[in-house]
Amino acid sequence: MHTRFTQAFGLSTPIALAPMALASGGALAAACAQAGALGLLGGGYGDLAWLQREHALAMSLLPPEAMPRLGCGFITWKLDEDASALDWLLDQAHRPAALMLSFGDPRPYAARLAARGVPLVCQIQQVAQLPLCLDAGAAVVVAQGAEAGGHGMNALEGRSTFSLVPELADALAARSPATLLLAAGGVADGRGLAAALALGADGVLMGSRLWASAESLAARGAVAAALRATGDDTARSAVFDVLRRKQWPAPYDFRALRNGLHRQWESRVEELREAPEAARADYDAGVAEGDYERAHVTVGEAVGLMHDAPAAALVIQRITQQAQGW
Ligand SMILES: Cc1cc2nc3c(=O)[nH]c(=O)nc-3n(C[C@H](O)[C@H](O)[C@H](O)COP(=O)(O)O)c2cc1C
Repeated sequence: MHTRFTQAFGLSTPIALAPMALASGGALAAACAQAGALGLLGGGYGDLAWLQREHALAMSLLPPEAMPRLGCGFITWKLDEDASALDWLLDQAHRPAALMLSFGDPRPYAARLAARGVPLVCQIQQVAQLPLCLDAGAAVVVAQGAEAGGHGMNALEGRSTFSLVPELADALAARSPATLLLAAGGVADGRGLAAALALGADGVLMGSRLWASAESLAARGAVAAALRATGDDTARSAVFDVLRRKQWPAPYDFRALRNGLHRQWESRVEELREAPEAARADYDAGVAEGDYERAHVTVGEAVGLMHDAPAAALVIQRITQQAQGW
């Protein structure tokens, strides 16, 4: 299945693995790259030791012909505090297939990526963020709708994938036609991939669907809880960021399963921010015990389309085949 995205990155399907912090490790990124997709390691908050370990694992698993499909992603505002993981990655002999930056200004990193010949992928949530990506010379823009699992634009300011993608496709056609566009948020089967292409995207970036795969680093109990859920069972808020002691900047919050602890605090987030200790203790105990009524389960609305957790290659093969038949 070929698009401008597959041609530019040497892929056999227009799918990218989202660089999911603590889930898109070396095994998952390698499995996706080997299956013909773009495999982005979840560099997340920039933990150097984690990235060194997972990058080495991916490289050990990949046959030489699939190595050019291995890349990485980082959370931009966290890189602004410490970019040592990015520095390390750019110093490696293996040149990343792509470097994805989300949630912040990509421009300070653009020159280093260009000098190393690494294509920049910028994930955005609003049309107003497009000029920053174009100024940074992004090769690919990812349009992330608020359906997405994990972090994204908060409920007041976020957009949905179905209207954001064609609006960005039109904006790119007018202003930067060579820049590629991926759709993210809510894509978990061939219908979603076919719809994204119909809306003007060159491919999709998938998180939740590949989070529930054999190679994902997601806790098995969390995956089991997700597979029992429907798309009605997630919510977007700052609750789990406060509980996890993450200092996310204002426009962003987090979609996860709307479990018991979330329900307890979702209408009292300011109160939680002011006195988080007891709730954090509850959350920490939930994590330690694998109790997903208290620990977070990071998935988006696409969770209602997910009914198993097979090998990532099978997920990619199924979605590609279903989309081809559309
Ligand atoms: C478990 C999980 C972790 C995520 N972590 C990151 C991250 O570290 N950096 C990032 O840019 N996006 C992250 N995301 C968001 C993805 O990049 C992507 O936008 C999203 O998964 C797409 O929506 P979907 O989950 O419906 O496929 C994460 C998503 C999930 C589900």
